[in-house]
Amino acid sequence: MSKGRIFSGMQPSGRFHLGNYLGALDNWINLQDDYECFFSIVDLHALTSTFENTSRMRENVLQMALDWLSAGLDPEKNVIFLQSHVPAHAELHLLLSMMTPLSWLERVPTYKDKLQQLGDMGKEINTYGFLGYPTLMTADIILYKADTVPVGEDQLPHLELSREIVRRFNNLYRPIFPEPQAFLSKASVLPGIDGRKMSKSYGNEIPFGASPDELRARVRLMITDPQRIRKTDKGDPDVCTVYTFHKIFNQEACAGIGARCRNAEIGCVDCKKQLAECMVAALSDIHARRQDLEKKPEYIREILVHGAERAQETASKTMAEVRDAMNLFA
Ligand code: AMP
Ligand code: TRP
Repeated sequence: MSKGRIFSGMQPSGRFHLGNYLGALDNWINLQDDYECFFSIVDLHALTSTFENTSRMRENVLQMALDWLSAGLDPEKNVIFLQSHVPAHAELHLLLSMMTPLSWLERVPTYKDKLQQLGDMGKEINTYGFLGYPTLMTADIILYKADTVPVGEDQLPHLELSREIVRRFNNLYRPIFPEPQAFLSKASVLPGIDGRKMSKSYGNEIPFGASPDELRARVRLMITDPQRIRKTDKGDPDVCTVYTFHKIFNQEACAGIGARCRNAEIGCVDCKKQLAECMVAALSDIHARRQDLEKKPEYIREILVHGAERAQETASKTMAEVRDAMNLFA
């Protein structure tokens, strides 16, 4: 029995990391058995910040599909597709843009923040498309009449706006869309190797597709309790990034490791070695699947093409209703 319909998307804007996996994708994987799910690689959204240099776009899309599939997102259970393969996203976005007041878009907090953040990096993104980012997100979601949207907390203002746009459409024409609700992941924010939030923009990430040797190298660079200088100093695991990872990847042994750190019975080098081996073991199946899939780009392409066909079926039905509700000439 399906509990409802889900839509979610991720931008193919670089290498997927463990924070994306534990904070978002793992949540999707847990939902795939209970909901009817549409998961989209949102390349049109990525263009809002990468339009000046799109040379990596194809590669990024392929890598994201590889990450999703190797993590266990099942193309039989879910509709997995590329946003730009289904032109109805662009069409509905245009229609919604006619009824979305500029003031609603201008007051979205992420709009101003990102404008400033990317502006500081010398990127010019103050475009028409960037301002309309949440309108395109709304089109994504309601094209499939999704009622549930698994996202991170940072996306809540966008969903609030989506509900306002839906209410406006339903009032102006005919109530055909449900108001989408956010479904927050329970996972907390994963730190990167420097202790700040794991993020591509900080360069502190652990790539999800990392090989065992890459994993070991990244763990070796993790910061530990800065007060603990010598092995004989007692440590505080609660401020240690390595310990945060032990809690996730080495749940059974982590209480013991914490106690030994507090008593200066285990050194950071040893502690990191143990963690690295736990992470290598925990991610080994995913890594093997990824290596296997990397050899089959045609198979990945087929999954995306087939996914787009299935998405298009639902999207076409919605667009017929929208055109009718808006009295567009049939
Ligand atoms: P982004 O890479 O910022 O586009 O994020 C894609 C998804 O991964 C969003 O749902 C984020 O909330 C989630 N995410 C990104 N970084 C982290 C992190 N360090 N810890 C947990 N979740 C994250
Ligand atoms: N803006 C989302 C992010 O950066 C990605 C996204 C695009 C999305 N369209 C969506 C998420 C629709 C949920 C629903 O994470």
